[in-house]
Amino acid sequence: MKTLESQQRERLPVHVHATADEACVELAREIAALIRLRAAAGKMAVLGLATGSTPVRLYRELVRLHREEGLSFKNVTTFNLDEYYGLTREHPESYWCFMHEQLFNHIDLPAPQINLPNGTVPRAEVFAACQAYEEKITALGGLDLQILGIGRTGHIGFNEPGSGRDSRTRLVTLDALTRRDAARDFLGEPNVPRYAITMGVGTILAARKIVLLAWGEAKARVVAQAVEGAPVESLPASFLQGHPDVRFLIDEAAAAELTRYKHPWLVGPVEWTPALTRRAVTWLSREVTRPVLKLLDEHYSEHGMADLLTEQGPAYDLNIRTFNEIQHTITGWPGGKPGADDTHRPERAEPRSKRVVVLAPEPSDDVLGMGGTLTRLVEQGHEVTVVYLTSGSLAVPDEEAQIVSDLVRDLASSEPAANPEPHGGNDENASAHSRRLKALLRRAEARAALRNAGIPAGSERFLDLPFYEQGRYRQFRPTLFDSVALAGVLRELRPHLLFATGVGQDPSSVGAVCFSILTTALSQLDAEAWSRDCRVWLYRTPDKAWGAHEIDMAVPLSPAQLSAKIHSIYQHKSQRSQTPMLGASLHEAWQQADATARGLAVTYDALGLAEYEAIEAFQRWHATPAIASASPKI
Ligand code: GLP
Repeated sequence: MKTLESQQRERLPVHVHATADEACVELAREIAALIRLRAAAGKMAVLGLATGSTPVRLYRELVRLHREEGLSFKNVTTFNLDEYYGLTREHPESYWCFMHEQLFNHIDLPAPQINLPNGTVPRAEVFAACQAYEEKITALGGLDLQILGIGRTGHIGFNEPGSGRDSRTRLVTLDALTRRDAARDFLGEPNVPRYAITMGVGTILAARKIVLLAWGEAKARVVAQAVEGAPVESLPASFLQGHPDVRFLIDEAAAAELTRYKHPWLVGPVEWTPALTRRAVTWLSREVTRPVLKLLDEHYSEHGMADLLTEQGPAYDLNIRTFNEIQHTITGWPGGKPGADDTHRPERAEPRSKRVVVLAPEPSDDVLGMGGTLTRLVEQGHEVTVVYLTSGSLAVPDEEAQIVSDLVRDLASSEPAANPEPHGGNDENASAHSRRLKALLRRAEARAALRNAGIPAGSERFLDLPFYEQGRYRQFRPTLFDSVALAGVLRELRPHLLFATGVGQDPSSVGAVCFSILTTALSQLDAEAWSRDCRVWLYRTPDKAWGAHEIDMAVPLSPAQLSAKIHSIYQHKSQRSQTPMLGASLHEAWQQADATARGLAVTYDALGLAEYEAIEAFQRWHATPAIASASPKI
């Protein structure tokens, strides 16, 4: 394959698609072709399969091919990469269960042709069972194709950092970060198994073809390390570089840290759009640790930007232009400054008082991402409504619900105890009562946070979207019921400004699902006059900060405003232990919110702009056809 100049740092082939769906359609077609080719020759196709949220879309597409295009799996044998050790097949978080729910139950794959490591073999027999697994793969002629996801530690299967290139199927101890990432599935880190059985790196590398999938910004860093760094044990996915037929199939968000996306001017000629110019200049300022206005011609030419200088220079002009652009993002008036000239302001001056809707995928996203701005909007006379899209009940540990349950029982002491059923990771079996209690708890906390932020009572709506109520983490399936519910509220509120989050997140996350529901709702509202006048501003939860070049509106916070924001976050007390919220505890979440807001102020300062205590940032969102057409099916 010919490598473009811009891909020269990539040590293995990477195919970037606009969306995960698009990538999965391509791969499913390839798998179907392999299966049919083998069937025509009267042979088996041997597939290595993966679990996690990443391959879910691929499995949905394979099921569709089976149902709608007659793809048969009768000549397929599957081997899964891994299984948690200590979980029975029946456990809802076992990979056995996952694979059956996501794929096997919906296709004609004969049960004897399904293979997963057995998580319940006694310790003394694990070694022999692992060897037998390897032997079975070999006896069937080896894996034709191995599908992989990638963990944030760089693991493939459960080959955590430290796994050797030649490792084989074995029992492993899970890394702390891996257990934390799995905490949402198991409703808390303590419930996550400590061990797993996984195919080794060597087992994976023996497959004839390997395709690694990755979606969302959270994977961007590890993908870039695996693709552009040297192969090392500390990042097992990097060992894939040695394979003769491997490719990474990723979406744009997961590609963001590859040099050709992040610093394209370093790896070849680029078209200097205004956005890329701003990105390059802010990067250069950081690189040479000089404020934008002090950058010199030689700084540009020594850092791969000689052509930019020729096109748009000298440095003085480029510097001034970029400085002004960034300067214009700063405003203390996120809803527009009444009566002011708004030519260079992020938001319109008129109407003076705007209807503002803030969409929070889960309660707490609002204050985490834009608590300070929320307060400002209200203080500046706008009519603010916070719409909580999901109940957030899945993120409440049982022990928190138990406290409320005890309290309610004591209050109405004639009532029998309304205990939530402990379920050790099985939320499907949690009683509806428990889910309801948890949802109410989060409502009360969201209201407390709004009160603290100075938002008048009654400014909140709780949509409890059905996809969340009926779903589980990583496996949500939005339908038209969700977008119709959201469209209904928007139609009623007719906002001038809409704040939303979730762009670039893992497509299976609550945030990304909510954003896809929003795009569908907006397309349903397209014809309405108010919607054409409605501006969408994106905010981010603090685990992922905007870069200076991505910001269209920067709202400074005073020290007092920052501490009020932190106090609002603190109202979400049910999130205090290790909970699914951001995969972090409340304590870590507020620290992150604090650090992100302060960090942005430091960034602006270093670029040579005013020095603030903290900043909350936003990006203008413009619908693109690709996103608008990604409507969920009913
Ligand atoms: C688990 C699995 C891996 C998977 C990884 C990423 O640890 N054992 O095979 O690649 O998680 O998970 P996700 O796809 O949900 O991001």
